Amino acid sequence: MDNDIMSRNLNDMVVVITGASAGIGKALAEKLAKQGAKLVLSARRLDRLHALNQQLGARHLCVATDVSKREDCTRLIEESFRAFGRIDTLVCNAGYGLYKSVHETSAQEYRDIFNTNVFGTVDPILAAVPRMLKQDLRDGYRGQVMMVSSIVALHGVPYLGAYSATKAAQFSLAHAMRVELGPEKLAVTSVHPIQTKTDFGAAARGKGGMQLPRGPFGQNVEQVVNRMVSAIVRPCPEVWPHQGSKWLYAIGSLFPAFADHLLGKYRDRVRAENPHSFQG
Ligand SMILES: NC(=O)c1ccc[n+]([C@@H]2O[C@H](COP(=O)([O-])OP(=O)(O)OC[C@H]3O[C@@H](n4cnc5c(N)ncnc54)[C@H](OP(=O)(O)O)[C@@H]3O)[C@@H](O)[C@H]2O)c1
Repeated sequence: MDNDIMSRNLNDMVVVITGASAGIGKALAEKLAKQGAKLVLSARRLDRLHALNQQLGARHLCVATDVSKREDCTRLIEESFRAFGRIDTLVCNAGYGLYKSVHETSAQEYRDIFNTNVFGTVDPILAAVPRMLKQDLRDGYRGQVMMVSSIVALHGVPYLGAYSATKAAQFSLAHAMRVELGPEKLAVTSVHPIQTKTDFGAAARGKGGMQLPRGPFGQNVEQVVNRMVSAIVRPCPEVWPHQGSKWLYAIGSLFPAFADHLLGKYRDRVRAENPHSFQG
C-alpha cells in the first residue's frame, strides 16, 4: 500500500465520525460535508448533532452514541451500514482528557478514561472492520480507520498520565493494525495533534480540578482538520498537524533524561498555577 498511494474522491465518500458534536470532530464534519462526503455524525449530545446536520444540509445520519458503551458502538456501525451500505473512513475521534497526577487518579477514573478513549476506539473497529474488509475497493482502498491520538502518545506528560496512556494505546493499535491490514487495502492512520483550541481543556479541567498552563506551542482546529482531510484523501500512516512536533518528541525518546528535565519545568509551572492542589 505504501508504494501505490492513490487519491480518494471525497464526493459521496461515507465517513463515520465519533465525537462529532464539538471540536475537531465537528470541524472535520463541516469540512468533509463541503466536499460532498456522506457523514454519520455521532456523539452523546444528539441535539448538537441534529443542529450540525441542519447546518450541513440535512443529508447526513445522526446517531446518539456513548462510545464507552460497547452496544452503542455496535449500533452506530450497524446504522451506518444500513443507511449508506459501506464505510469508507471510520474516524475514532471521541475522547477526553483528565488533569490529575498518576497516583491521585482513582481506579474508577482510569477505567472510565480507558473505556472512552481506548475501548471507544476498539469497539467501533471490532464492529466495522470485518464488514469493511468485504467491501469492494473504492479509489484503490477498501476503507480506512483513522484514530485521533495525540502528541502525548509518544511521551507521557505530567498531570496527563492516564490520558497519555490511552493515547499511547491507540498509537500501538494503529501501528499493528496498519501492517496487518495493508495487503487487504484497508488503510490505518493515526493523528497526533498538539494543544488545540477546542472544549478539550475545559472538560479536562472539569474532571481533574486543575488548570494546565498553555504549552509553548498550540494550533487551531482548522490546521488539524486540514491535515486530517488530506490524509483521508491520500491515506498515510501518521498525521502530525504541527510541523516539528514529531521531531521534538523523537529527541525526547532518544534522550529521556533531557525530556524529563524539560517536562520538570512544565511540572513546576503546573504546581505554581495550582497551589490549591499541592498544599500539604
Ligand atoms: N484539543 C486538544 O488539545 C487535543 C490534542 C490532542 C488530541 N486531541 C484528541 O482529539 C479528540 C477530540 O478532542 P477535541 O479537542 O475535539 O475535544 P472536545 O472539543 O472536548 O470534543 C470532544 C468530543 O468527544 C465527544 N465525546 C467525549 N466523550 C464521549 C463519549 N463517551 N461518547 C461519545 N462521544 C464522546 C464529545 O461529544 P459529547 O460530549 O456530545 O458526547 C465531543 O464531540 C480527542 O480524542 C482528544 O483526545 C485533542
